[in-house]
Amino acid sequence: MAGRDAEELLAEFGSPLMVFLPDRVEDNVRSVSEAFGSRFPDVSVHYAVKCCYYDPVVRAALRAEAGIEVMSNLELQIAELTGCAPERLVINGLGRDEAYVQRGVRAAGSLHVLDTWDDFTAVARGATNAQQMVDVAVRVVPQMPGDLDNAMPLDSKLGNDAGSGEFWRLCDAVAEHPWLTLRGLHGHQFTRASSPADYGRFLAGLAAVACEAVTRKNLRFDVIDIGGGFDTRSKLEANGTPLSAFADVAAKELAAIPYPFRLIVEPGRYVAADAAVGLTRVRARKERKGFTWQVVDLATNTLIPVPGAEYIPISVRSSEGEVKTSRLGDGTCAPSVICNDISLPETVAGTPLAILHCGAYTTVFAHIWGPRPPVVLALRDNEDPEVLTDPRAFSEAARAVYGYELDLGPDHSP
Ligand SMILES: Cc1ncc(COP(=O)(O)O)c(C=O)c1O
Repeated sequence: MAGRDAEELLAEFGSPLMVFLPDRVEDNVRSVSEAFGSRFPDVSVHYAVKCCYYDPVVRAALRAEAGIEVMSNLELQIAELTGCAPERLVINGLGRDEAYVQRGVRAAGSLHVLDTWDDFTAVARGATNAQQMVDVAVRVVPQMPGDLDNAMPLDSKLGNDAGSGEFWRLCDAVAEHPWLTLRGLHGHQFTRASSPADYGRFLAGLAAVACEAVTRKNLRFDVIDIGGGFDTRSKLEANGTPLSAFADVAAKELAAIPYPFRLIVEPGRYVAADAAVGLTRVRARKERKGFTWQVVDLATNTLIPVPGAEYIPISVRSSEGEVKTSRLGDGTCAPSVICNDISLPETVAGTPLAILHCGAYTTVFAHIWGPRPPVVLALRDNEDPEVLTDPRAFSEAARAVYGYELDLGPDHSP
């Protein structure tokens, strides 16, 4: 990793470790810009910061000329503190509080995506009070088949149905408001999208909404925001469906829109997931009901088993011993699983393992519960590792939250 040996890192910093690779973040953002930028004349990539907050990750995305997509006041502040220009912000989220609305309105030139009437009222009031024009996109759920691979359920809380008229009523209200400008159409419908064909079915629906807006109201959206939702880059590429395949279907389906527009893409997982590697040691092994369990010390308090979570362990030593099919678990007394049925060379207690795809929707959800928290590093070629989270920080948080003085430092035993 970035020229460093995994075992040396474990020896130096202890176990467990999370290693973020900002150069990979930068490269991932550029690959999104290239895939869509070579097919659309005007493309803007906005990193969905909700998937990872660490400063070197966010700044790497900004270095690759990404904007930022936020869903809360907390995230908006991260975007501002890392230097994202206001006109490079997409502001999302439902049920916004006053502080979030006001901060967003002050970010002149940002795009506010509205999904509920209450958010319309709050943003309209904020814009009116500040006497500030605010650019708005309305979130839609286009008409599309209900069984698309890895699409959100059609009855989720998110988006407004084009078919029911709700979406059009919200558009009218924005267009008629003196301090709001209706700029964009927003759709985000997938998580871990891996089928370009199904992605195309969603985009065909989105293009149909944009076309209907022309015939129905002579309304043109300057911005078409297709959201994020792509699977991990290295996984897509290993499976032979690189992002260019998604950009191809986007170019094909969105060509139906009869006017020029700016395309916004909001990837989170694609940017961050394969930009972090977990390093851990096997602490115990166990055979049960025909399965071999490897119990590791990078635990589900960081590798959160959210639905669909996929972490991929690999051996960091050149293979030795018989390859076995294993399951990976942690030391908690919960029946949680880090991953199922993977092939690993035989281990002993202390064997180091690397776990791939740890960068997105992991540390943002990490909590102080049960197992030892990880040391978190940022690692760049030819530079010393930068410690992003020292376990002392977790100890301080534990003191603030629970009131105990705890020693949560890393384990240096081999
Ligand atoms: C509006 C919006 N845009 C972008 C994203 C990023 O999604 P992903 O990390 O799957 O690319 C999300 C994720 O929840 C989202 O809600």
